[in-house]
Amino acid sequence: MANDIILGVNIDHVATLRQVRRADYPEVLMAAELAEQAGAGVITVHLREDRRHIQDSDVREIRESIGIPLNLEMAVTDEMLAIAADVRPQHCCLVPERREELTTEGGLDVTGNLARLRDAVGQLHNHGCQVSLFVDPDPEQLDAAADTGAKVVELHTGAYANASGEAMINELARLRDAAIHAEKLGLAVHAGHGLNVQNVGPVAKLPQIVEMNIGHWLVARAVFVGLEHAIKEMLGVMRDARK
Ligand code: PXP
Repeated sequence: MANDIILGVNIDHVATLRQVRRADYPEVLMAAELAEQAGAGVITVHLREDRRHIQDSDVREIRESIGIPLNLEMAVTDEMLAIAADVRPQHCCLVPERREELTTEGGLDVTGNLARLRDAVGQLHNHGCQVSLFVDPDPEQLDAAADTGAKVVELHTGAYANASGEAMINELARLRDAAIHAEKLGLAVHAGHGLNVQNVGPVAKLPQIVEMNIGHWLVARAVFVGLEHAIKEMLGVMRDARK
């Protein structure tokens, strides 16, 4: 379907629930398999430096077991680049990371780290990974992202998701302009962060956006209706927006 949009299901918070008790359940691999069955196009995990949720073994097991691409979100560190070189996820999304943050708070400063990012993108491309850069909807960052050699950007939708009223309309306009700008630069456009069934529609409607990565809402909703149902609800809203 030319107009279709891919849902990348981020299962970090299945691991959060497991790690909070250092238990061996809920099984992250089972979540990945259920997500695949429910229509996810990609499984996304963020292997954080502090290993607060996803563990190295999760990344390896998912890579070996699922039939859809694994998207590894990672900070640009030598440790993570070595893991990516070893595990060879089909997709890598480079993100900024601060230990004390609750979640990824802003996009990458691509303009300020151009040489390092060029090198990281080059290394990952050599390992056969499709690389995306997680950036705020800012034309300068997008220009720099194209300069790194990356072929994909993921627009940070957090500011949009956290806003309301007029501010939300303005944030949506920033996302729309950024998506248009990125497409002109020849970049494929993904989006994610803070999205739920209430706010996803206007972003999913932007025709340049080909993939959305969504996690926290899906796992929270799954507590009440199950993961497969939550994913199907989200996919339904995304596809309706696209019609
Ligand atoms: N995309 C990126 C790059 C992220 O870091 C995250 C959060 O891990 C998400 C998407 C998903 O955000 P949320 O869990 O709020 O749906």
